Amino acid sequence: MVRKLQSVATLLSLLVSSWTCNAFRNQFQAAQLDVTIPNAYFSADESNITPSCRINPTSAEEVAQVLTTTTQLGCQFAVRSGGHMPWAGAANIEQPGVVIDLGFLNSTTLSADKSLAHVQPGSRWGPVYDTLAPEDLVVLGGRSRSVGVGGFLLGGGISFYSPADGFASNNVMGYQIVLANGTIVEANSEENPDLFWAMRLGSTNFGIVTRYDLKTIPSTKLWGGIRSYNRSHALEAAQALLDFDQKSGQLGLDSAGLDIGSSDEFFINVDHIGANIDDTDVFDSLLDIPFTSDTTREDVTLNNILEEIDALFPSGRHLSFRTIAFKPDAQFMVDFWQQGLKIFEPLQGNPDLTWTFAFTPVPVSLLKAAEQADDPYGISADDGSVMLTNLNAFWGDSLDENDVQSKLAELIEWGNTESQARGLANKWIYLNYASPDMKPYESIPEANLQRLKDVRQSVDPDSVLQSLWPGGFKI
Ligand SMILES: *[C@@H]1O[C@H](CO)[C@@H](O)[C@H](O)[C@H]1NC(C)=O
Ligand SMILES: *[C@@H]1O[C@H](CO)[C@@H](O)[C@H](O)[C@H]1NC(C)=O
Ligand SMILES: *[C@@H]1O[C@H](CO)[C@@H](O)[C@H](O)[C@H]1NC(C)=O
Repeated sequence: MVRKLQSVATLLSLLVSSWTCNAFRNQFQAAQLDVTIPNAYFSADESNITPSCRINPTSAEEVAQVLTTTTQLGCQFAVRSGGHMPWAGAANIEQPGVVIDLGFLNSTTLSADKSLAHVQPGSRWGPVYDTLAPEDLVVLGGRSRSVGVGGFLLGGGISFYSPADGFASNNVMGYQIVLANGTIVEANSEENPDLFWAMRLGSTNFGIVTRYDLKTIPSTKLWGGIRSYNRSHALEAAQALLDFDQKSGQLGLDSAGLDIGSSDEFFINVDHIGANIDDTDVFDSLLDIPFTSDTTREDVTLNNILEEIDALFPSGRHLSFRTIAFKPDAQFMVDFWQQGLKIFEPLQGNPDLTWTFAFTPVPVSLLKAAEQADDPYGISADDGSVMLTNLNAFWGDSLDENDVQSKLAELIEWGNTESQARGLANKWIYLNYASPDMKPYESIPEANLQRLKDVRQSVDPDSVLQSLWPGGFKI
């Protein structure tokens, strides 16, 4: 009986989806339906999902039209901008769902006085930077050319310029948004200011953004690159990273990260806003450690640096991101990594799996800038810098997905328990690095969460996006 009911329900939902897709066939040209975009998704888990149909709108009005049709027919949907979120269902959806693919909305234009870049959500950061470079301008965006604009800016966003200017989302001056009922609104400090505030941590809760107005800043040459090291230097490197953070934490010009995991070697990436480091000693202790290879160089462009980073992240593999934050502590970082080696011991040496802790200090200067911008994460700069951690893993079909995922979950669990025990815990869950079982909104101050809920109530009183748009993170 239950089975019969389920199959009736399945049949009904398939009917709904075919109505929805037929409705699109009547409304749009074939060139906007089921378009295959190369590397539409970063991870195999996202690419392997098949929706009923994909529709590529070319304007905010068309996004509104698609959203209205979809919600009227009660059909679930996903929205893809860059498709970089690794988990299955973040920006794709199984039948009977449909995908609203923003890939055709990918332009970047400058305002008349060049103080703002109007960026459409389906662009990747690479083409955004390419468009602004001839003007000697840059915006706070991804540290990867292939990351999409939309997802990145709806969860905060960390840029090389963040140490001075806060999260990338703190530098969005305005949004054009299609609300759940198909109304197109502007949100900025004067129009819909509450919605403007909420969009900085909007994820998939308030509407579909069809334009971001990003503050432009003068671009500069950079110094930076990646060094690799023998594992025997892990503790020294963690200590040097903390020393770097202490020295650079107020300046806002420098970034550094430590990537350590299953590989024989570990890596440090360093970046400075400025063509060389002749006038700063913040990197000294990091650069003192004996290394095995080195690409750090003077007078490079942002693109030079990003191409190098992107080469480290192959697309099309199974992929998982998880996150944890804690008070910087070198011994804890090394113990955390050692715990990873222990948990992954049964898979040690398997060439089809790479797992890595990407440790990035979030300096006091960034937290202060975010605080000044009334950022919804609400992290206080008074408690000092925070060690943001992205635990990522890439693997092939030969491994058991559940096995890898449960080992990663166990490792994060160890980190949570142990950081608590050592008095280092920080409950921040950075949305852009979270896995679907994590609850980034539960990590923000209660008053901010309530404010976000109030905004949601005002823009989507019937909770349409809550029920029909399962991707992303919900308040
Ligand atoms: C925008 O997307 C179209 C279609 O996929 C592509 O041909 C074009 O190169 C893209 N433009 C930019 C600036 O990325
Ligand atoms: C790393 O350092 C250890 C200890 O000094 C040494 O035994 C090992 O050979 C080194 N590994 C490589 C790949 O150089
Ligand atoms: C759409 O929703 C917004 C926010 O709730 C509301 O202000 C607007 O009046 C609605 N528009 C229509 C046509 O119902």
